[in-house]
Amino acid sequence: VEEQASSATPAGSRLKGGRKIAFSDLQQANDSAPRTATGIKEFDRVCGGGLVKGSAILIGGDPGIGKSTLLLQIAAKISESGKVGYVSGEEAIEQIRMRAKRLNIAEAPVQLASATNVRDILATIDGPDAPDLLIIDSIQTMYIDTLDSAPGTVAQVRACTAELIHVAKKKGTSVIFVGHVTKDGTIAGPRVLEHMVDTVLYFEGERGHNFRILRAVKNRFGPANEIGVFEMTETGLQEVENPSALFLSERDQQVTGSTVFAGMEGTRPLLVEIQALVAPSPLGTPRRTVVGWDHARLSMILAVLETRCGMQFAGNDVYLNIAGGMKISEPAADLAVAAALISSMLHVPLPPATVLFGEIGLSGEIRQVAQADVRLKEAEKLGFEQALCPKAKTINTAPIAVKTLSECYDLVTYFRELKHEHPAKAVQII
Ligand code: TYD
Ligand code: MG
Repeated sequence: VEEQASSATPAGSRLKGGRKIAFSDLQQANDSAPRTATGIKEFDRVCGGGLVKGSAILIGGDPGIGKSTLLLQIAAKISESGKVGYVSGEEAIEQIRMRAKRLNIAEAPVQLASATNVRDILATIDGPDAPDLLIIDSIQTMYIDTLDSAPGTVAQVRACTAELIHVAKKKGTSVIFVGHVTKDGTIAGPRVLEHMVDTVLYFEGERGHNFRILRAVKNRFGPANEIGVFEMTETGLQEVENPSALFLSERDQQVTGSTVFAGMEGTRPLLVEIQALVAPSPLGTPRRTVVGWDHARLSMILAVLETRCGMQFAGNDVYLNIAGGMKISEPAADLAVAAALISSMLHVPLPPATVLFGEIGLSGEIRQVAQADVRLKEAEKLGFEQALCPKAKTINTAPIAVKTLSECYDLVTYFRELKHEHPAKAVQII
């Protein structure tokens, strides 16, 4: 595109007649944003302590994961102390009532409406009796009648969100939008929405599993990456107070290829089981299957194990699974993954009551990870006695510090020999 060269005078000097902006100090700002705790602790934790007045939250997730259930439970809690409007564009009022009955919250004074026209919704909330919390389920069903495009298109979703946020901010109403997720896992069409709202939450979980994870990916009023854990039951979503215990509940200690990773999710330590299976492959190109972890990262760990520890994975299928449907993105899980692979390959279970964490570099070195002491404390709380981890200055207790991956390999083989010769002693020493 050909552009006109601007004249020599700077652009600013041609814009005359503006008004002066009044600057203020950081200190003069209002006290910390007033929050309303919902009383659902796992939700409050993810929001950074509760709903902030006038804030906009977007909650995304697969269909059927439990978004409407969670929001109805939140609505019921907030309605005990404030006014809550629940606008559904997907379900009839009768359906929502049935759900409320099932959740035992049918008595709560939540104001229900089934509507999709944003003009009507705005007219309703832009009055003297604006609600303290407005729930829009879902933003993809809403439309503005002056736009030609169909509901759910980027133009509609954007315009609806902007209008609703504008009025809500003016009124001090908190709004929670439900957004659908596309096949590739992003909130449908409107990635743009993520910039417009203050907080973006994802509600995730596997279909076959009962627990659900609410994850903050963006939060202007609190830490991102914080997670809340819920369990879907007959009577709605229950908070899980000790997720590590839940994720480890089905673990069999004596099995090969299973390790416990001491991870961090936001500010919370979380112990999860990592399972690996190395099995002879009938295929020319062996399978590499990963559930809950990064595929590329597994290839890297396999390559490091092959070059630095002399292991041979060619001719073997490799399966890696994070138990319980959890998804891990921390590089700190490297060591636990590598140990699970070694354990499966050598047919030797890891020492009991041992947790692992540490990042692995390409030269096979084990690198330090953040918050080692918090991870160890959580492990101790759950009855673990040993940790295989990089040496860190902050750790006073004596876990087994490993510097390289081959040291970890040696430890596992050493454990095998020890177990062979003196089974009782092996447990003590390790
Ligand atoms: P829903 O909140 O409708 O999901 P979304 O709004 O994300 O599409 O949840 C639907 C699923 O939750 C459905 O498969 C049934 C299950 N469910 C329970 O197991 N227990 C309950 O108490 C409720 C209300 C739903
Ligand atoms: Mg729904």
